[in-house]
Amino acid sequence: MMKPMLQVALDTKTTAEALNIVRQVGDVVDVLEAGTLLIYEEGLDAVKALRAVGADKIVLADCKTADAGGAVAKECKEAGADWMTCICAATVPTMVSAQKEIEVQVELYGEWTKKQAQAWIDNGIKQVVYHQSRDAKFAGQTWGQKDLDAVKELIDMGFKVSVTGGMKPEVLKLFEGVDVYTFIAGRAIHGADDPYEAALEFKNEINRIWK
Ligand code: 5RP
Repeated sequence: MMKPMLQVALDTKTTAEALNIVRQVGDVVDVLEAGTLLIYEEGLDAVKALRAVGADKIVLADCKTADAGGAVAKECKEAGADWMTCICAATVPTMVSAQKEIEVQVELYGEWTKKQAQAWIDNGIKQVVYHQSRDAKFAGQTWGQKDLDAVKELIDMGFKVSVTGGMKPEVLKLFEGVDVYTFIAGRAIHGADDPYEAALEFKNEINRIWK
């Protein structure tokens, strides 16, 4: 079983703030995410900046693309991203045209079906992100058996599955024995008083559970 990677989701207001977090947690995390909120603020310059400081890291552009997949993917690739996200509501041709340029992660929000997921994998999509949305969490949603079952089913289908949404280190043990590809944490790291200690807490928990 592979050890899950740790991704920091940089949903900061400015690229400068994101770079400040990377300076603190760069030695601990594996993937640097230009968060959707950061991309709204700074565009793909944020991705360029992360690429410049994270030569040895995977860089993700979390653009949650719904259409024009190939065009967006070209831009993300030129900015230096290794991966980009498409929203699960996008059509298969959107995902496929993006995947021709760059590795796509399909972000699972709201309603989606196993039939759709099978179509994604049949068309060469390798990654999905199992997501509890920020707003659902504000409304009281918590991590539990339903999520675990869904993640396992997606892994059994052949996807590399990342898990995110209000992640905290204590949630990770729910996934013990499961081949999670990456845990993605945003506010728990960039919003912490000590982002380095917060990232380390995630990493130590990953190392403890996935030996
Ligand atoms: C929001 C996102 C976030 O980047 C992801 O959910 C991680 O952030 P947090 O840990 O703060 O929930 O994709 O749409």
